Amino acid sequence: MFRLAVFVSGGGTNLQALLDRIADGTLENISIDLVIASKPGTRAQQRAEQAGIEFFVMERSRYESTEAFDQALTDLLADRPVDLIVLAGFMCLLGPQLVQAYRNRIINIHPSLIPAFCGHGLYGIRPHQAALEYGVKLSGATVHFVDEQYDTGPILLQKSVIVRNDDTAELLQKRVMEEAEQIILPQAVRMIAAGQVRIEGRRTVILEENEND
Ligand code: GAR
Repeated sequence: MFRLAVFVSGGGTNLQALLDRIADGTLENISIDLVIASKPGTRAQQRAEQAGIEFFVMERSRYESTEAFDQALTDLLADRPVDLIVLAGFMCLLGPQLVQAYRNRIINIHPSLIPAFCGHGLYGIRPHQAALEYGVKLSGATVHFVDEQYDTGPILLQKSVIVRNDDTAELLQKRVMEEAEQIILPQAVRMIAAGQVRIEGRRTVILEENEND
């Protein structure tokens, strides 16, 4: 079994996409063993609890420093056999200790085509507002490995979505979630679990199935 820890902060639609692909057998021999939320009372919490998954709230504000928060997250995961951490709408920067402990074993979904509309302060609805303000004709989503900074790790998958004349940030966000994020996040997990992903410096190389045998 390939074991995931999923980190969330809000709606949990990406968490739900993973749960649905596990339920329908697309993600075979993959389980979500725990879900960690950065705040209490989210829709993501309901989804995790409904699926019977062990759930924790870890609030940054309850720790005196980013180092203490980093330590607490690292400690929580230390005794668990987690193969991959999935940041599915997690709105806190991970600390260096956790990133180091899970080097190349943490992925994040971001709602734009990185390197556009990403980095500190660009999360949630904001990348979509920025994309519309800039006037791009294509937006989309990116799954990338996580390093110590915001949205800078090696890119694994991207999927584009056409921007429409009458788009609002909310409409674009919804289409990017449904047509890009919820497709490439489960795909990324499946490829990593199957050993199809190799990281070479800044680039990822996706091997054909069985190429790694
Ligand atoms: C998603 O659009 C995700 O890409 C984004 O937050 C939303 C969470 O939705 N993440 C970021 O902006 C991270 N920089 P969800 O809770 O319904 O999955």
